[in-house]
Amino acid sequence: MIPSFRFHISTSCGMARTGVISTPRGEIRTPAFMPVGTAGTVKAMMPDSVRATGADILLGNTYHLMLRPGAERVARLGGLHRFMNWERPILTDSGGFQVMSLSSLRKLTEEGVTFRSHYDGSRHKLTPERSMEIQRLLGSDIVMCFDECPALPATEAEVAKSMQLSMRWAQRSRDAFGDRPGHALFGIMQGGVTRDLREESAQALRAIGFDGYAVGGLAVGEGQAAMFGVLDYAPGFLPEDKPRYLMGVGKPDDIVGAVERGIDMMDCVLPSRSGRTGQGWTRRGSVNIRNARHADDPRPLDEACTCPACRNYSRAYLHHVVRSGEIIGSMLLTWHNLHYFQELMQGLRDAITAGRLPQFVADFHALRAEGDI
Ligand code: GUN
Ligand code: ZN
Repeated sequence: MIPSFRFHISTSCGMARTGVISTPRGEIRTPAFMPVGTAGTVKAMMPDSVRATGADILLGNTYHLMLRPGAERVARLGGLHRFMNWERPILTDSGGFQVMSLSSLRKLTEEGVTFRSHYDGSRHKLTPERSMEIQRLLGSDIVMCFDECPALPATEAEVAKSMQLSMRWAQRSRDAFGDRPGHALFGIMQGGVTRDLREESAQALRAIGFDGYAVGGLAVGEGQAAMFGVLDYAPGFLPEDKPRYLMGVGKPDDIVGAVERGIDMMDCVLPSRSGRTGQGWTRRGSVNIRNARHADDPRPLDEACTCPACRNYSRAYLHHVVRSGEIIGSMLLTWHNLHYFQELMQGLRDAITAGRLPQFVADFHALRAEGDI
């Protein structure tokens, strides 16, 4: 028998909770941060190194992989896990969101969306049914519904219409996904920053029934206060016993605030992407290692960090290799950033377990307020 997909909450602390999602490919400790491996790689990192930072699960993208190298090709080569040499769980986003932000000449209809590839201009079509098929061909463990996220600024009427389309697509995604033991399908709540629309969306998703529920349509430029405003009520509209995933978030303080409000999973390109531009994230905030003040500094990026970048190299060296455009600069800063994000998640999990989340959050903000040393 194929082991099933399960979520066990071990401790709650206010709205926050900690637990484990069990899948046939391994356990995901929650709250979880998922590094982004868009095109079959977490850029500048070997899979074993990503695992060494503490990641239990990666995110992959339907949009990028369908265009290059193609979902059918990945399937012929044994699926995405084997293709990229990552045997642990993979969650794939469904493509609609990336079509809206990356492709050109988009045409949205009830059926789905047609668009031109941002790589070579070729024409493609995504529907809920094709997105489910692509995510099955990739071998994704956690499949996301095909949805639409309206570009801001949008009127409330536009957000309502878009959300209702996404809810019809959620039903079609559910029907097309079928029954796949050991694999999960997550619904995606939309509705912008309007409470009634968020509630309507959550009710539509709950009526369909999913293995987990994402909060979509946030971190799209509304600002942290507006995002937290939605997160003050949105998780409460979702089933308590299923994972809640906040898509595309975020900065360390966004992550902490989301976990306090009942979010179990998150993903963001921030630690990997900003690592490639020389930005390091530490307990004291962010550091631009390109800054001239680091050129003679023999100290590590963070003296308390146990990652290879901090154990073996000085700020001066990191400054030098990043300024010189050396590949190791991207490797070391990405490793450090992913390590810091995973250490933050472990700190949150431990604090929830120990019933001391408020103290953890207070300490988190106090050290950041001191700033870089
Ligand atoms: N990534 C960030 N936000 C979203 C969203 O609203 N929908 C999807 N599918 N992916 C996202
Ligand atoms: Zn480090």
